[in-house]
Formats: sequence, C-alpha cells, structure tokens
Amino acid sequence: MSELDAQIVGAFDPFADAAAEDSAEASKGKGYVHVRVQQRNGRKSLTTVQGISKSFDYKRLLKDFKKEFSCNGTVVEDTELGTVIQLQGDQRKNVSQFLVSNGIVKKDAIKIHGF
Ligand SMILES: *[C@@H]1O[C@H](CO)[C@@H](O)[C@H](O)[C@H]1NC(C)=O
Ligand SMILES: *[C@@H]1O[C@H](CO)[C@@H](O)[C@H](O)[C@H]1NC(C)=O
Repeated sequence: MSELDAQIVGAFDPFADAAAEDSAEASKGKGYVHVRVQQRNGRKSLTTVQGISKSFDYKRLLKDFKKEFSCNGTVVEDTELGTVIQLQGDQRKNVSQFLVSNGIVKKDAIKIHGF
C-alpha cells in the first residue's frame, strides 16, 4: 500500500508529462503500464490505463474493473496511446493493486501519474 503511494507522482502538468513521454517515447514499447488520473468538469476525475499487454482482453479487464471498483468505464482507441481503458473516479490505487495482485502487471512496471 505505502509503496504504491510513494509511486504517485506529485504535481500534475499534462504538458510536461507529455513532453517527458515524447523523449522517452517508448515507454510505450518498454512494457510499462501507465495509470493516469485526469480532472474533468472540475470535480469528477477519470482514470486511464494504458499499456497493458495486448494479450489481455481489454473488454474483459474493463468488466472486472467495473465490477471490482463499482465504477463506470469504457475502452477507447487513442490515436497516440493505442487502446486505453478509462474508468470514472480516481482509481489509481484500485487499478494498481488489481493489476499487481492478479499478476497482470509487475509492480515496478506500473507508472502512476496524476495530481
Ligand atoms: C475502489 O474499489 C472499491 C471497491 O473495491 C470501491 O468501493 C471504491 O470506491 C474504489 N475507489 C474509488 C476511488 O472509486
Ligand atoms: C458509463 O460510461 C459510458 C461511456 O462513457 C456512458 O455512455 C454511460 O452513460 C455511463 N453510464 C453510467 C451509468 O454512468
């Protein structure tokens, strides 16, 4: 729990974040799973999960996430990021714990971004 906490990056600057990722463009190809939280409409937040191995069925994962976290969500195709799972609410901890405890992603392969 606290180790996951420590991975949550501080100030959220979407542009700085994007720039950092451009230079390391390939965090995409390196097997990292990126979990990001975005603020929507001022209050609501949205969590996106990108980079889970294509060998997993995203629709199936989404179904599990929705059930486990009792939240809504969807799978979207992003031109840059590829297939991304979006979940309503700040599900950073829930998602990370779920992915790790189900052996889907190794803990040190999860990058958590957000405020
Ligand atoms: C995390 O999952 C639990 C159910 O396991 C849920 O009650 C909780 O609301 C979720 N967290 C958030 C921030 O939605
Ligand atoms: C769940 O999310 C989908 C896609 O964003 C949306 O169309 C739907 O209305 C949402 N359902 C609820 C109950 O919020």
